[in-house]
Amino acid sequence: MADIQERDKLIKEWIAETAEKIEAAKSERLNVEEKSARNDLVTNMDKQIEKELTEKIRIQFPNDRICGEEGFGDELEDLDGTVWFIDPIDGTLNFVLQQENFAVMIGVYENGIGQQGYIYDVTQKRLYHAVKGQGVYCNEEPVEKPENKSLTEGLLATNSQLMTKDQFSEYRKLADQSMGVRMLGSAGLEVIELAKGNVVGYIASKLSPWDIAPGKVILEEFGFKIRQFDGTEVNLLNRNKAIFATPRAYDEIMTNIS
Ligand code: IPD
Ligand code: CA
Ligand code: CA
Repeated sequence: MADIQERDKLIKEWIAETAEKIEAAKSERLNVEEKSARNDLVTNMDKQIEKELTEKIRIQFPNDRICGEEGFGDELEDLDGTVWFIDPIDGTLNFVLQQENFAVMIGVYENGIGQQGYIYDVTQKRLYHAVKGQGVYCNEEPVEKPENKSLTEGLLATNSQLMTKDQFSEYRKLADQSMGVRMLGSAGLEVIELAKGNVVGYIASKLSPWDIAPGKVILEEFGFKIRQFDGTEVNLLNRNKAIFATPRAYDEIMTNIS
């Protein structure tokens, strides 16, 4: 197994280099393509970042495997050994339409257990990260554990499909029970909102392993719950309907949807 502090140092360097490239590319024209739908986009930057990060990982850690959104990683059938999760740009729609509110995310797991999670909010220049058992940091400053607030005491973050599609109508009662709903369009930035105590839960109907893995390491440092809608562990080999919440908000959410 690699030395975690050495890996931590490298990941932070790689994220800083990536951020510089995104900054430098701001004045250039983006090449935008549709993937599965008109609001499922990929840009040349998503591809370039993932390609460069996977190349760096493969040089430094040739035995590790990579699960990335844009296809530069490996086809995984299990989580044995060291697995890296990469979301080169989380919030691509925001990146294209707003040029802000997106993140670069990396997670490292060993035999399915989260060891390191990194979410870099590019616009705000905030790096949230956690190494398992060492707490949560924002730009190297410790982040205080948020209060264990209930759903009725706090705000609930969601993805937009959960609020618009008929099949998810039963979940809207959760919105009513909370103090209100917030939507950022980036799973990573929603995790940061949870880590800051700005929201007490985030529920999303379609999250991939790279959307979940980095934030899971960060929020588990605070004892938050990260589960599928049916209460089972999230599956990092598949898409998930996922809940991230304070323990109290999680219990309330589960009582209401089961
Ligand atoms: C998406 C964002 C969005 C979530 C989607 C994700 P992407 O990631 O995190 O908030 O609702 O499910 O796919 O595609 O922009 O990396
Ligand atoms: Ca994503
Ligand atoms: Ca992405």
